[in-house]
Amino acid sequence: MAEQFDVVVIGAGPGGYTAAIRAAQLGFATACIDDWSRADGKPAPGGTCTNVGCIPSKALLQSSENFEHAGHSFADHGIKVDGLAIDVPRMLARKERVVAQNNDGILYLFKKNKIAFFHGIGSFAGKEGDAWKLSCKMSVAGAKAAELVARNVIVATGSKPRPLPGVAFDNVRVLDNEGALAIQGVPKRLGVVGAGVIGLEMGSVWRRLGAEVTVLEALPAFLGVVDSAIAKEALKLFTKQGLAIQTGVKITDVKVGKQDVGVVYTDAAGKTQNATYDRLIVSIGRIPYTGALEAGKVGLKLDERGFVEVDGECRTNLPHVWAIGDVVRGPMLAHKAEEEAVAVAERIAGQHGHVDFNTVPWVIYTAPEIAWVGQNEQQLKVDGVDYRAGSFPFMANGRARAMGDTSGFVKILADRKTDRILGVHIIGPYASELISEGVVAMEFGASSEDLARICHAHPSLSEATKEAALAVDGRTLNL
Ligand code: FAD
Ligand code: NAI
Repeated sequence: MAEQFDVVVIGAGPGGYTAAIRAAQLGFATACIDDWSRADGKPAPGGTCTNVGCIPSKALLQSSENFEHAGHSFADHGIKVDGLAIDVPRMLARKERVVAQNNDGILYLFKKNKIAFFHGIGSFAGKEGDAWKLSCKMSVAGAKAAELVARNVIVATGSKPRPLPGVAFDNVRVLDNEGALAIQGVPKRLGVVGAGVIGLEMGSVWRRLGAEVTVLEALPAFLGVVDSAIAKEALKLFTKQGLAIQTGVKITDVKVGKQDVGVVYTDAAGKTQNATYDRLIVSIGRIPYTGALEAGKVGLKLDERGFVEVDGECRTNLPHVWAIGDVVRGPMLAHKAEEEAVAVAERIAGQHGHVDFNTVPWVIYTAPEIAWVGQNEQQLKVDGVDYRAGSFPFMANGRARAMGDTSGFVKILADRKTDRILGVHIIGPYASELISEGVVAMEFGASSEDLARICHAHPSLSEATKEAALAVDGRTLNL
């Protein structure tokens, strides 16, 4: 007989497992289905984020940054390192341990919250009797097949990497994110297609470890979604570090050989170029994944790009069926998925969950890190908003100097009339942590003067944020 649940979540990525936890906290009998497996076949909940995304990429970014510091900046601190070498298999094994700790943590949370976890592929099996509007029949295909009946369903099936047309990922020569996180030795020549978030993070990892990295970007502008002053600074710094970034590139042919990959492309000047790489990472965006859902069986509507169609509150076209995270519109970010997860579980409980899409922060975990929230200067100009801008460089920040990490700056944009903060943009050390102050300020409708009048610890990197807020009014104290 089919097991009955108040809420069945399909997918245990940051969207799915968070939704399951919040639903269980709210007193619902909750199940979560996820098909991701470890090498030994055991469940690996956590989705893309935990298994081949946020967590392993940050593990490798940390390892490679440590290596770079040991090679380049330790000497300045009087620390001598002889015989510095990178043991790639050991670095990858550490990354796998970090991933496994997170998988286990989620399994523990499922147990703690009494969530029934099903390891396998979940799909819609149809309606329950005539009353399908109240319940969905769900199938689980896996080692332990099961039939479930759900009063509410939350689809959180995530996304997959987008391949270059006609060039399949083999994860030997042509790598998606999974392959890029598992290269067994430092490639001599690494090509990266797409100068987006994955391209820059993974390109940085392998460059720090010694690869010659070339990044080929189709758009004429580098990091067009980022505030242009920040993007300009990033391009300057990444180029200095040794990332060869080419924009305005059109790839015309990719030939995958046994030992290398040949890429033919037209450069920004319209000249044909032939390049050969040992490996090619293709990071040109991700596509929603609904492949195994059997959405058609129940008439779940997808949009023309394959996303599950939802309204502003994550309701699909089917009553009691919701969708969240990468599989729906909006930024493909773990924390966006988590916010939608909590909001949907609360809406199912009749509460008023809310996600403010204007204050979702973005972070690129390069060195220096890049982080922003709200609108950038280009957007404000297009929208005809009258604003003031204030910036403060880390070069003038005592903590950054003590750390020996002085590149970048904080930039704050505020409405000229009301002084309300419209955007915070940071390139610099720990931008990923510093940006939270900007998010909090914007959530509370703070003005730049509010930030400028708040006492910030000294010496701290966050003083650069305070100084940028002071700069909006042209009255920095330390510059
Ligand atoms: P996913 O995490 O993709 O999880 C979906 C889960 O559902 C998967 O386990 C999948 O196997 C499972 N599933 C799918 N269909 C079924 C089915 N029918 N039955 C059972 N299970 C199913 N975001 C950040 O915010 N910060 C970062 O630093 C960051 N770094 C990233 C680095 C990389 C290399 C990549 C690729 C992504 C990164 N992201 C980052 C993006 C982040 O991983 C995604 O936004 C996030 O994982 C989306 O969560 P989700 O729950 O919607 O989907
Ligand atoms: P992306 O959207 O960040 O960048 C893709 C880049 O590829 C763009 O600059 C695009 O112009 C370029 N491009 C597209 N087609 C191309 C082509 N044919 N040739 C050359 N360039 C081309 O996508 P990416 O890096 O694949 O990452 C996917 C998503 O994963 C991100 O959008 C983000 O949501 C998430 N992510 C988030 C991270 C974080 O929060 N730190 C880290 C990594 C991924």
